[in-house]
Amino acid sequence: MKKITTVTELRQQITQWKKAGQRVALVPTMGNLHQGHLSLVETAKQIADKVIVSLFVNPLQFDDKTDLSAYPRTLDADIEQLISVECAGVFIPTVQTMYPEGMDGQAKITVPAIDDKLCGQARPGHFDGVATVVAKLFNMVQPDVAVFGEKDYQQLLLIKKMVIDLNFATEIIGAATFREKNGLAMSSRNQYLTEQQRQQAASLYRILNDIKIKLIKGETDFSKLEQQAIAELKQLGFEPDYVDIRHAGNLTPAKSSDKALRVLLAARLGRARLIDNIACDLD
Ligand code: PAJ
Repeated sequence: MKKITTVTELRQQITQWKKAGQRVALVPTMGNLHQGHLSLVETAKQIADKVIVSLFVNPLQFDDKTDLSAYPRTLDADIEQLISVECAGVFIPTVQTMYPEGMDGQAKITVPAIDDKLCGQARPGHFDGVATVVAKLFNMVQPDVAVFGEKDYQQLLLIKKMVIDLNFATEIIGAATFREKNGLAMSSRNQYLTEQQRQQAASLYRILNDIKIKLIKGETDFSKLEQQAIAELKQLGFEPDYVDIRHAGNLTPAKSSDKALRVLLAARLGRARLIDNIACDLD
């Protein structure tokens, strides 16, 4: 596996692959890799000849500086895991490489209509930081395709809209959420949980499934379902941020005539802010 740290090296490698007619996939990550990330690499391997993973803890998307400094950095273990799934290359830029002029002077990308709701409300500036770093990575790597997890569903829609609005030539693929046996979505933030909290956190997916079943059975009082779930989360010891039933395509509040829905939630448990979501197609 090629370990690349500079943009010059990166461009040389990508040019070489493309000259050989190879299709290149990018999987952007912030490192601290788990099986969820590796499942994205597996998806990417099926649709491209060469997969490159970026490892970069992006300071621009952290609204909370304590969260940034606490974010787990496990470079050696990450590289081992990427070798084990036969990833072709890993790009590990420094903050200086990504933001040579510093972050305040950096041109930023705002993706309206998606960035202001749900997690965007709780984390001001977060989605500008995500869109900006992903746009920079796309321009550096020029991938034919990039894979993002449905685990971060709002982020996936944000990137899809950015690519359409700004005419990027990269195709965006969404990949299913990889879960623990108990249903808990894998996340770097799960390691902030105690063993007992990890068991408790499985309730998030169970609650999403309960809502989905009620929607499929024909419940149209979305607000009632959301409020019941919030109350249940509180009772279970979570501090809920939101539970929302939304239009799956643009995340506007769902209407009773909508067929493709997405149920999304965010809640704090101990030190961790956890998010999850589920698809609900009423056709
Ligand atoms: P990070 O949280 O490291 O996630 C990297 C990618 O892995 C994202 O596309 C995310 O949705 C996906 N992912 C995380 N947990 C997953 C799971 N359990 N199953 C499947 N996919 C999962 O998301 C980011 O980093 C950053 O915001 C980034 C896009 C890299 C920009 O900095």
